[in-house]
Amino acid sequence: MSDARTTIPIGRIDIHSHALPAIDDGCESIEETIEALTAVQGAGFVGSICTPHMASEVYPTITPQHVGVWVDQLRQQLHQRGLNYHLWAGGELRLFEGSIDWMKQNGVPTLADSRCVLLDFWVTRWARWINKTFTWLMSEGYQPIWAHPERMNFDDRKFEKYVRDMAREGVLLQGNFQCMTGEAGYHADQRIRRWLDEGLYSFLAMDMHRPLGLEGRLDGITMVETEYGRTALDTLTRDNPRRLIFGL
Ligand SMILES: [Fe+2]
Repeated sequence: MSDARTTIPIGRIDIHSHALPAIDDGCESIEETIEALTAVQGAGFVGSICTPHMASEVYPTITPQHVGVWVDQLRQQLHQRGLNYHLWAGGELRLFEGSIDWMKQNGVPTLADSRCVLLDFWVTRWARWINKTFTWLMSEGYQPIWAHPERMNFDDRKFEKYVRDMAREGVLLQGNFQCMTGEAGYHADQRIRRWLDEGLYSFLAMDMHRPLGLEGRLDGITMVETEYGRTALDTLTRDNPRRLIFGL
C-alpha cells in the first residue's frame, strides 16, 4: 500500500467536479468553491478530482498542464482556509472530430495520474470518429470513462445499443446524481435507473458546478441509497474511485 493511500481517509471520492474557481462554467470564485466543497464534504466525500471542460471551443486554454498548476493553487487555498479536503487533477475532455490531434498536442488529461480519462461528447447522430477516438485511447493504454451518457440528447432509437456496445468494448460509464432527481429530464431519469438496474455504471459522481443547483445533486445521493442500497452507493462512489486513484 502506497503512503498516499494510507493518508487518504476512507470515504467517497467525487471523480467529476468543476470545483476550480473561475476556470470554466463551474465555481466562479474561491468563496463558491469553499461553499460547494464544504457541502459535498458534508455528504461524505473526502476528496474530488477537478475535471474542468477541455478541448471545448469555449475554453481553449484549459489544458492538462494548466490544470495541474491550478489544482496545486486550490489545494493551498483550501489548506489556508482550514478545509481538510483532498484534490486531484483531471479533466472532462469534450470529444470532437479532432480530439486525437488535440491530445497529441496537449497531452491526455488523465484522472489523478491514473490511466483513466473522463470524457463527454454531444452529438445527435452517432459518428465514426467517436469509436475511433475511444479505440485510439485504449490502444495507447488509457481507460476511457464516458461521463453521464444518460444525459445525451440523442434521437436515434439505437442510442441505448451504442451505449451497451461501448460498455462491452471496455468503456466505463459514469452517471450523474442529478439525473436521479428528474432535473436533467425524463430520458436521463429513466436511463440512469435502467442502467443502474443492469449494473452498467462503474461510477456515480456529482458533476458539481456551483453551490447553486447543488441541492438536487445531493438529493440524488439519497435517492440512490434508498432505491439501490448503501452497498451499491459505496461501490460507485467510494470503492471504485479509490481503485481508480490507487490502481485500476
Ligand atoms: Fe462536467
